[in-house]
Amino acid sequence: MLGLLPDLARDALGLLTRVTRDYGDLVRIRLGLTPAIVVGHPDLAGEVLVTRNHDYRKGDAARRLGSLLGKGLLLSEGDFWLRQRRLMQPAFHRQRLAQMADAMIDSAVDLANGWQDNEVRAINLEMQELTLRIVGRTLFGTDVGEDLDRIRHATVVLGEHFRSRLYTLLTLLPDNVPTPGNLRYQTAVRDLDALVYRIIGERRATDASSEDLLGMLLSARDDAGQGMNDRQLRDEVMTLLLAGHDTTALALTWAFVLLAQSATARDRLEAEVEAVVTDCRLVAADVANLRYTDHVVTETLRLYPTAWAIGREALRDTQIGGQPVRRGTTVLIVPWVMHRDPRFFDEPAAFLPERWDNGLSERLPRFAYLPFGGGQRVCIGSGFAQLEATLLLATIAQQWRLDLANPAAEVEPWPVVTLRTKADVPMRLHRR
Ligand code: HEM
Repeated sequence: MLGLLPDLARDALGLLTRVTRDYGDLVRIRLGLTPAIVVGHPDLAGEVLVTRNHDYRKGDAARRLGSLLGKGLLLSEGDFWLRQRRLMQPAFHRQRLAQMADAMIDSAVDLANGWQDNEVRAINLEMQELTLRIVGRTLFGTDVGEDLDRIRHATVVLGEHFRSRLYTLLTLLPDNVPTPGNLRYQTAVRDLDALVYRIIGERRATDASSEDLLGMLLSARDDAGQGMNDRQLRDEVMTLLLAGHDTTALALTWAFVLLAQSATARDRLEAEVEAVVTDCRLVAADVANLRYTDHVVTETLRLYPTAWAIGREALRDTQIGGQPVRRGTTVLIVPWVMHRDPRFFDEPAAFLPERWDNGLSERLPRFAYLPFGGGQRVCIGSGFAQLEATLLLATIAQQWRLDLANPAAEVEPWPVVTLRTKADVPMRLHRR
């Protein structure tokens, strides 16, 4: 009945690493009643994401987020998805991102100004607060400050809910059956809904046309001249609010952990920031010279890809690498495994940002490194996230050095929908 589900629940990262190491680049397993294929080679990933992408839809695990994200960009499919993607793409254009850089730096400065020398803070929570504020300001023109506690609580409940759904046959039980867990989940969704509808309502009330993402969503018209209905607006805003902060906050958390464990990398990052920031504070244009800091982000996402597995479901009988794939099969592309594959990365377990110095990205096979996915459904926020993470790391490193409060304790990864830490990560802050 369960197939490898219990093993996946116990240690998903270990299991997927072992099956690809022991059985090769394409491994058939069973997850509950669903046949699945684990893909461990970039060429095969490319077949699924690009060459034969029309044979697939989003995987079952992602679709379970539907009760929260509805038909937002992450989960919609087909012509509807394409229309929405084209509509939102300009909000993530390089020039637009450059305009958001100052708000990103300001938010980081505000946060770092509130820190005290030698105090201990849970860095994952600090980063969540920071990236939430930034998404609110840059994409929706709003301050989410007052809602932070509510959002934080809701994301914990959502995490528990989706974890229980991810690794068990509980999926057979719909979200609206009134179990205690489901009731907590429904309250969390209602809390987030209230926030999302407030963001939409406030903007509508001001009647101001704005070029940010919310402005684009509100002014969009279809061929019949109709705007988006409230439900669709809610789904898009909810998707961007959640997808736009959680992944980057986790990437930053892992970056600070890795930097605390590598004196060489941290020294080099601090030296770069000192050399680049000639004025007393970072400005948007500095980002072009923060190459090492940018590589710290790239290397962090190699070792700890926040989207640690990318799932698809075959819509029809198809094939991968010449092997038959039956309709209904789940295909798991696993960045966690591919990013640690010695065929593509020397010393794969080592944190070496400098490995990206000499054009490694161009030499790697396409899709050997895919923290943002690939093909049509590649992350719309990849440029936003890379810029944001680089600016925040540099802004914080300019003033603060962070050490693990308990250096002996291992920071364990916890793969749910995104790659979290198993517990909060207390870090001690030292003013530089
Ligand atoms: C380090 C940060 C991030 C990582 C690792 C990440 C990763 C990913 C990945 C792997 C996908 C593709 C999923 C799939 O193919 O099934 C994706 C899609 C998406 N991401 Fe990101 N993401 C990040 C940041 C962001 C940000 C900042 C935003 C928004 C501001 C965002 C919004 C989205 C959306 C809307 C999609 C769906 C795109 C579509 O299907 O058209 N992400 N992300």
